[in-house]
Amino acid sequence: MTEDLKTASAEEKFSFGAEIERLLDLVVHSLYSDREIFLRELVANAADALDRRRFAALTEAAPAVPEGAAIRIIPDRPARTLTISDEGIGMDREELIAHLGTIARSGTLAFSAELAKARPEERPYLIGQFGVGFYSAFMVAERVEVVSRRAGREDAYRWSSEGRGTFTVTPAERDRAGTDVILHLKADAEEFLDPYRLETIVRKWADHIAWPITIRRDGKDLPANEGTALWRKPRQDVKEEDYKAFYRHLGHLFDDPWLTLHWRAEGTLEFYALLFIPSRRPLAILEEERDSRVRLHVRRMFITDRAGLLPPWLRFVQGVVDTEDLPLNVSREMLQATPLIPRIRKALVNRLLGDLKGRTGDPGYVSFIENFGAILKEGLWEDFEHREDILGLLRFRSSAVEGWTSLEDYIGRMKPGQEAIYVIAGERIEALREAAVLEGFRARGLEVLLLDDPIDAFWPDRVDAFKGKPIRRATQAVGDLEKFPLPGEDAAALPIETLERALKNALGDAVREVRSSRRLVESAVALVPGEEGGDLFRERLTRRLGRHERPVSPPVLEINPRHPLIKSLARRAEAGDDLAPLAETLLELARIGEGEMPLHPQRFVAAVTRLLAAGEEEGPPSGKAPHGKETSPSSAPSATEREAEEREKEKDHD
Ligand SMILES: Nc1ncnc2c1ncn2[C@@H]1O[C@H](COP(=O)(O)OP(=O)(O)O)[C@@H](O)[C@H]1O
Ligand SMILES: [Mg+2]
Repeated sequence: MTEDLKTASAEEKFSFGAEIERLLDLVVHSLYSDREIFLRELVANAADALDRRRFAALTEAAPAVPEGAAIRIIPDRPARTLTISDEGIGMDREELIAHLGTIARSGTLAFSAELAKARPEERPYLIGQFGVGFYSAFMVAERVEVVSRRAGREDAYRWSSEGRGTFTVTPAERDRAGTDVILHLKADAEEFLDPYRLETIVRKWADHIAWPITIRRDGKDLPANEGTALWRKPRQDVKEEDYKAFYRHLGHLFDDPWLTLHWRAEGTLEFYALLFIPSRRPLAILEEERDSRVRLHVRRMFITDRAGLLPPWLRFVQGVVDTEDLPLNVSREMLQATPLIPRIRKALVNRLLGDLKGRTGDPGYVSFIENFGAILKEGLWEDFEHREDILGLLRFRSSAVEGWTSLEDYIGRMKPGQEAIYVIAGERIEALREAAVLEGFRARGLEVLLLDDPIDAFWPDRVDAFKGKPIRRATQAVGDLEKFPLPGEDAAALPIETLERALKNALGDAVREVRSSRRLVESAVALVPGEEGGDLFRERLTRRLGRHERPVSPPVLEINPRHPLIKSLARRAEAGDDLAPLAETLLELARIGEGEMPLHPQRFVAAVTRLLAAGEEEGPPSGKAPHGKETSPSSAPSATEREAEEREKEKDHD
């Protein structure tokens, strides 16, 4: 192969993945009215690259950021190009290909769904949130070139694309490390060659970038941003609008903060802190990550957003902490070893919890709980120290009152003689409200808190009490209802030991026990956990997650000795009828009531269909004896026989 040919083939052509192509199309067309934000995204990328280079220099002995480094915005009217130039970490050839062309890190589908939902004023924040900012360049450019040289390397490369299907990468020259993004502007985007227009955009969107930004005008690079560290200003000097703008910039968020906390800690521990709690729940995609991203600065300089300045259960808090007590050249290892971070974390947590406590009466507090209560609850599980404080902050739905209630208010409503706070956890509040196991509580005027977050399946196992009152699951607490007998309850019940035995015999290992219950009033049957500390919702969730904590013992089938159906079955059991086929149907009914699928859906459907058909043959229900059909032993003998046969067949198959 000749030299010439080699040079010619040095240009390599790549295709964007299908995902990226769709993304490009989406970004270019849906954000058209906000297209000036391309500048915000490119400047933000340049700032990120500078941050990363500085941090790399501290921790990996990579070359430092040169003195006076800035982000330069250079309009060139004759060439009709706009260049954004930085001296950041740069990209090598593989990084250019990977970061600007082959990996769409966030789902296009999720992005377009959010875009469709978003109000117009929210759209400009979405691309930042989804990490697709670079592609916004194609809103204003017919061709984008990126010339980059990785810090510590000699070779540079040029990435080039028209944003339609393919891009090329060629060897290039760059005299120092860093990146130039060169936009060949579309004919209708010439406004972005005007330095004054550019300055307006920078002021609006990028004023908080901590690196100097310059715009070239008449051959001179003129400063365009203030780059002030807002968090270091005295509170009275910061306008509400500044806080808002900074908050949006920080988290790529488009709402207003619900809570803004800005203070300076003095004394043994010195730092500035500016923390925000959003007024809306950010997109689900942001919740995949559990680590707090509160930013750590040392003497204004951004160090990292991975210092773990807040525990995971406060990860919805956004913000900045700036300290003088660490050296500017702090390394990753040093960050992990220094006792300073845990001490700052403790101070931040205490401040946040204290402040939240003072706001529980605020009108927005309920939204705060709706947005972040589920995350806060994770602290009940993993942060012993703050358990009581978190419980005090939480609000719950209840079987007794509308809306949200606090544990303190619950305690105020407890019945004389009631010892414990009762809770029940499940998938949906509506289903919990109607749960069979709550009937006995309701009839006795015992309030139960209804918990429907997945985390609610777990924390009651770890939290013993609040203000000295034990927290107990309503599905356990077997003896508790005995203390509050209902008038006439025992007279209405039938002795059902024979039935219990018959059902247990029929169901075998599918249940641990069949027992009579005071929990049931209207319902005939219900399923409860088979052991102390068990919870069916928790078992369901762990099963769904593909995890088995430990072998769970089979559930208990509770039956209501006051229910006409159970009474009639009890009589049949005494008379020696075979109740085996019905036993399975009862268990399936209890499973469905609990929110489980039947174990044998088709068999269950067949059994119920037969019962319904038997009812139809006898004519419409009279209304006087709604449970008469089950009592008449002649109503469905053939059906039960057939069912027994099928069960035998099934066994053979197993
Ligand atoms: N000026 C730059 N210097 C170095 N790397 C860059 C630069 N611009 C973009 N990149 C790389 O391209 C990636 C994609 O950028 P972008 O689409 O804006 O998403 P995000 O900034 O959210 O990661 C960045 O994560 C970074 O790795
Ligand atoms: Mg970006």
